[in-house]
Amino acid sequence: MKASISINKDDKISAIDNRIYGSFIEHLGRAVYGGIYRPQDKSADEMGFRKDVLELVKELKVPLVRYPGGNFVSGYNWEDGTGPRENRPKKLDLAWASIETNEIGIDEFQEWAKRADTEIMMAVNLGTRGAAEAGNLVEYCNLDTDTYYADMRRKNGFDEPFGIKVWCLGNEMDGPWQIGHLTAEEYARKAHEAAKIMKWTDPSIELVACGSSNRWMPTFGDWEKTVLRECYDDIDYLSLHSYYGNPNNNTPEYLAQPLIMDDFIKTVAKICDEVKAEKNSDKTINLSFDEWNVWFHSNEQDKQVPRWSYAPRLLEDIYNFEDALVVGMLLITLINNADRVKIACLAQLVNVIAPIMTEDDGCWVQTIFYPFLHASTFGRGTALKTDIGCGTYDTDSTKNVPYITASAVENDDGTITVFAVNRSLDEEAELELSGLEGYSLQQHTELCCDDMKAVNSISQPDNVKPSEKAIGEKAVLSAHSWNVLRFIKK
Ligand code: AHR
Repeated sequence: MKASISINKDDKISAIDNRIYGSFIEHLGRAVYGGIYRPQDKSADEMGFRKDVLELVKELKVPLVRYPGGNFVSGYNWEDGTGPRENRPKKLDLAWASIETNEIGIDEFQEWAKRADTEIMMAVNLGTRGAAEAGNLVEYCNLDTDTYYADMRRKNGFDEPFGIKVWCLGNEMDGPWQIGHLTAEEYARKAHEAAKIMKWTDPSIELVACGSSNRWMPTFGDWEKTVLRECYDDIDYLSLHSYYGNPNNNTPEYLAQPLIMDDFIKTVAKICDEVKAEKNSDKTINLSFDEWNVWFHSNEQDKQVPRWSYAPRLLEDIYNFEDALVVGMLLITLINNADRVKIACLAQLVNVIAPIMTEDDGCWVQTIFYPFLHASTFGRGTALKTDIGCGTYDTDSTKNVPYITASAVENDDGTITVFAVNRSLDEEAELELSGLEGYSLQQHTELCCDDMKAVNSISQPDNVKPSEKAIGEKAVLSAHSWNVLRFIKK
C-alpha cells in the first residue's frame, strides 16, 4: 500500500516535556524486593541495589519514577520505611495481600533514584491517612528547618533535603478496590486540604490530583469536574490511568486501542478547559498520564498466588511482539498530545508489568523495552504536527482505524525523528514523505517479527529485538512494524 506523512516544521504541537518518559515503581510483587533491591545479588552495590537493573534503567533514560504506589500507597505509613532497619515493622499490605517488610522506604529509594539518574514523583496516602501525614512527609523530604520531621531525616543520616518536586494526591481514589475509596466530593475536599498543607509546607512543589482510574469508570467526567471545581487553584495536573490488552485475541481490534487513549486525553483536557472557563481562570491544568501500559497476560496466574507472601510473582506479564506495537502507538499518542500531557509513567519499570525483568541469575528486557527506549532517546525536543494519508480498516468496536500512525519530533540537535507504526498485518507501506525537503533519511530502525506472539525470556533474550533497515529511495514500513526514521539536514 501507499501512505503519506506530511510534516510542516512550522506547525508545532508543543515542546515535549521529557517527563512523559517517566515510569513507576510500586511496592508490589518483585518490583522493589528482588527487582531493584537484592542484597545477595552478584551485581548488588553497597546498598543492595542491583547494578544490572540500574544499567538498564539508565539506558531507558527515565527522567521521573512514581513511588511507592499505586494501590499500595493507600494503606502505607511512610514512617514505617524510615530509621534503623531493625526497628521497622513488618506489615500486611492489604492492596496486594502481601507482606511488606519496609526494608526499603523513601530514604533508600531516593538513594536508588540518584543512582538511576532520575527524579522521584512521590505519592501520598489519602486512603487511610490524610492531610497532616502528607504535610509531614513533605517536611521530611524537602525542608531544611530545625523542626521535627526535617530533624528526623537528619537523624536518619540525610542532612540534605531530597528535593522532591512532583507529588500525587493519593492514587485511584475513585476505585472501589482502593483502600479508603472516596466519593468525588469526599476526595475533592480531602485533596484540597492536603494540597493546602503540602504547598504551605513547600510552595515549590507541583501537585497531581487523581482523575479517573480509567475511561470506563461510571463516575468518569463527573469525577473530574468535581475534583477540578474544588481543587483548581491548588493543583497543577490531573491524572489519567489506563491499561490496554488483547484478552480475546483479536489483534486488529487490539492495535486500534491507542485511539481510545487519544480520545481519553482529549476528553479530559476538554473538561479541564470547561472548568477553567467556569472559573474564569488564567491557569491551565495539564495532564499526568501517570499509569499506562498493556496489562492482561498475568490476570489468571495472579489468582493462584498465595496470600501474605513476601515479594510474590505478581503482575508479571510476559509481553509479546504485538504488545510492543501497542506500546509504541501509545507513545506516539503521548507525543502527539504533548501540548497537554506533561508527565506520563509507563507502569511499571521492573518485574511488575515491566520492560525490565529479573531472575536471581541476571536480567533481561521484554519486547516493550524497545519502543520505550527509542521514544525516550529520540523523542525529545518539539512535537510537530503530522498529516497522514493512508487506508483504514474497521473493527467491531472502532471504524476507520488508520493503517499508519505516526508522530514527528524536531530534536534539539536539529534532527527530525519520525516514529511510525504500520498496523496492517499483511501489507507493507511505501511512504511518501513531504515537508522534509533539505533533510535526508540517515537511519531507519525497525522492530518487526513474523510471529505476533513472539516473546523474549532469560534464555532467549534477543528473540525480539530491533534491527537497522537499509536506506533506499523510499522509506518502507513493513507489515506490522514499529519504525524510527531519523532525518538529518543535508
Ligand atoms: O500498576 C498496577 C496497579 O494498577 C496500581 O497499583 C493501581 O494504581 C492500578 O490499578
